[in-house]
Amino acid sequence: MFLTHLSLKNYRNYESQTLEFMNNVNIILGENAQGKTNMMEAIYVLAMAKSHRTTNDKELIRWNEDYAKIEGKAVKKHGALSLELIISKKGKKAKCNHIEQQRLSQYVGHLNVVMFAPEDLNLVKGSPQVRRRFIDMEIGQVSPVYIHDLSQYQKLLQQRNHYLKMMQTRERQDETILDILTEQLIPLAAKITLKRHEFLFLLEKWAAPIHHEISRGLEQLQIQYESSIDVSEKVELSRIIEAYSEKFATIKEREIQRGMTLAGPHRDDISFIVNGKNVQIFGSQGQQRTTALSIKLAEIELIFSELGDYPILLLDDVLSELDDYRQTHLLDTIRRKVQTFVTTTSIDGIKHDIIKEAAIYKVHSGSITAPSCH
Ligand SMILES: Nc1ncnc2c1ncn2[C@@H]1O[C@H](COP(=O)(O)OP(=O)(O)OP(=O)(O)O)[C@@H](O)[C@H]1O
Ligand SMILES: [Mg+2]
Repeated sequence: MFLTHLSLKNYRNYESQTLEFMNNVNIILGENAQGKTNMMEAIYVLAMAKSHRTTNDKELIRWNEDYAKIEGKAVKKHGALSLELIISKKGKKAKCNHIEQQRLSQYVGHLNVVMFAPEDLNLVKGSPQVRRRFIDMEIGQVSPVYIHDLSQYQKLLQQRNHYLKMMQTRERQDETILDILTEQLIPLAAKITLKRHEFLFLLEKWAAPIHHEISRGLEQLQIQYESSIDVSEKVELSRIIEAYSEKFATIKEREIQRGMTLAGPHRDDISFIVNGKNVQIFGSQGQQRTTALSIKLAEIELIFSELGDYPILLLDDVLSELDDYRQTHLLDTIRRKVQTFVTTTSIDGIKHDIIKEAAIYKVHSGSITAPSCH
């Protein structure tokens, strides 16, 4: 798929901006603090209805304004797509092909993006929360049901935690209420756990050969889901439900003492293993970078295999950070099939092969001038 038009109104430092894009590489060139990341973020938000940088949507609205609006037109394999997202202090309104979407979970997934930014190293190095957010966002792109299940899970989890807190302080003592909440939580927890397992299985399938190649045949990447229950032998919904039931029965007393839910997808993690060792703990900076890049490139293929259309690739400030070999590999992966947006402060660090096919947009103080083609 290709994003052909983008229009921003009161988005971050853009007051009003309309742009047309090329199908292959679009380079956004500008000094620091001019609006490069804001532009990439806007494309990401148009697709995901959420920023990759912040969970506070109000930050996206231009200072002293009431709302921000992002509009985009894309061409997909099976036709044209038009998207509109309005972010106001009250919330978000989303339209897909001019029809307002009642639920954001119905809106997300029409435009698919893969973003690679310097923060993505945190995917490997950062806290479990970063990895859970990653996996949730990525599955959400290909499965609206997942977004729905996840939000139901989070609501129930809050209720259950609240009730456990009251039991901890002996405000409430009724164990049957806790049992009902547990019974309601388990099928959702199991569905989410299963989906994550399946997703990581596919992600590893795509990422391992890419990682092997970028590391010049030296490294083998494995991806493992670290769950609070043991489902390693047979990953089936009924088996996961059973495992959660057993788990919650054994930890019940401890949960009451601690006043919170101690098992479930909200506590799980992902491990990236290179040559048998956890990269988060033992990996060098270069290995961590290769892992993050392999995962992102794998996502491109995974989305294609699930949806039959390539996503848009957003590379914020990372291309010139990659050495020649990795840039070449990246270029080979995306060449003529993946529309790519690249930001940089200077085109010096970018390979000539990429630049010669690119349209270059210059950004200065929240305003972008039309490209000069090479
Ligand atoms: N809500 C907002 N309203 C107005 N301006 C904002 C808002 N949020 C951020 N900005 C401003 O937008 C400017 C550009 O930010 P952006 O992150 O896009 O820079 P950049 O071009 O990516 O720079 P760098 O090369 O340092 O990454 C910043 O100076 C920031 O202060
Ligand atoms: Mg930036």
